[in-house]
Amino acid sequence: MPGAKTMSAAAQEAKANLLRGRFARARLPEVEAFTASLPFDRRLYRHDIHGSVAHVRMLAKVRLISSAEAARLEKGLRAVEREMETGCFRFSVADEDIHMAVERRLGELVGAAAGKLHTARSRNDQAVLDLRLFLGEELEGVISATRRLRRSMLKVAERHVDTVMPGYTHLQRAQPVSLAHHILAYVEMFGRDQERFARARSAARVMPLGAGALAATTLPIDRQAVARELGFSAVTANSLDAVSDRDFAIEFLAAGALCMVHLSRLSEELILWSSTEFGFVVLPDEFSSGSSMMPQKKNPDLLELVRAKTGRALGNLQAVLVVLKGLPLAYNSDLQEDKERVFDTLDTLKPALELTAKLWPRLRFEREVMRKAAGGWALATDLAEYLVRRGVPFRAAHETVARLAREAIAEGREPDKMTLAQLKRYSPRFGSEALARLSPGTSIRARKVIGGPAPAAVKRRLAQLKKAI
Ligand code: ARG
Repeated sequence: MPGAKTMSAAAQEAKANLLRGRFARARLPEVEAFTASLPFDRRLYRHDIHGSVAHVRMLAKVRLISSAEAARLEKGLRAVEREMETGCFRFSVADEDIHMAVERRLGELVGAAAGKLHTARSRNDQAVLDLRLFLGEELEGVISATRRLRRSMLKVAERHVDTVMPGYTHLQRAQPVSLAHHILAYVEMFGRDQERFARARSAARVMPLGAGALAATTLPIDRQAVARELGFSAVTANSLDAVSDRDFAIEFLAAGALCMVHLSRLSEELILWSSTEFGFVVLPDEFSSGSSMMPQKKNPDLLELVRAKTGRALGNLQAVLVVLKGLPLAYNSDLQEDKERVFDTLDTLKPALELTAKLWPRLRFEREVMRKAAGGWALATDLAEYLVRRGVPFRAAHETVARLAREAIAEGREPDKMTLAQLKRYSPRFGSEALARLSPGTSIRARKVIGGPAPAAVKRRLAQLKKAI
């Protein structure tokens, strides 16, 4: 850390004064390094300072400090913020965390008045306030990024309402669908992700300050005023809960993990589809890389890494759940482990959403390859359903068509080469309209129930989504 070794003697002493308490000897430097959160929570400096400014204003409002003191403190806090913003702040690991770093520097700048900043406050409620402020703000960005991805995919879907492709179960060709229908499946998933992020944001936007270390304070503070000042609509209802719960962070980590899982499945499909074996899509050069040894290669690295980094998001969720499990109320230092997990999921999720959104308009889909793959005996269910309409029980129809398909496949006969006479050998119920069913286009057009792949149904959903996104 810059400045770690160069902490001034005055700073050392200021720090010692903040925490002296009942200790006669200083902590071992390696213990200090191991337990410090400053290397990562300095990312919260703006939120920490804004929280302190709101706190100072409230302290003046309830006359715990004078308005002159408040002005002095606020000016000092702004000066610390500027130093941090411009990178000239001298961070020292001896400060432990961002809260101590700010307060130590404030003392150097404004003198004794700084001693009043921490009135009716603990780092326990302060740390959770900072994370709540930070997450609330970051989630807005995540929600917009999710919306941008959905828009980008929606635009591609609009062009492929009639692009027929095979749908798969067990990764075996199953029944024809359209590419638009397949894309919209992900748009639905990301839509639910977006809702989960919005709910995680509401969970974060509850104001914990005033909980103190664990049992609030005897001083006549005004928590609602701080909440208003910081734009929160509610304050936490129990001081023990306020300092020891991290469910709001877990709700974000869970929503983030799930969204990454969706991105990972999408990436995996594009990786498969871009292989020579599928040949459904051509990846843009700007999103791929070559091989150092094999000149012909074009590797889908971005997609592979979205898939792989999903592991981080899953691990981060697990890590914080494990931190909480078995933790007695109220605050414990274990809780300090929440922040890096939240940062890491954010730093993984945001670029994954943004890059995937950028990738979509540049994908080139091979309509003809997809259409061909959708033909063949992926149409067998259509024939069975034809028989059902003619009164044949589904199980019997299934058996008839299974026999028909088995024999046709063995003889290498494609459905569109079947004649009525051949069909009639399997069931007298087959009529000439049955032949028309043996095209993928007809097949998807007939699947027009709500949620089905028929162009009419997909267009209806597209219109709803366009309005909603
Ligand atoms: N650095 C801690 C955290 O990030 C806040 C300090 C909590 N209080 C304490 N006495 N250790 O959660």
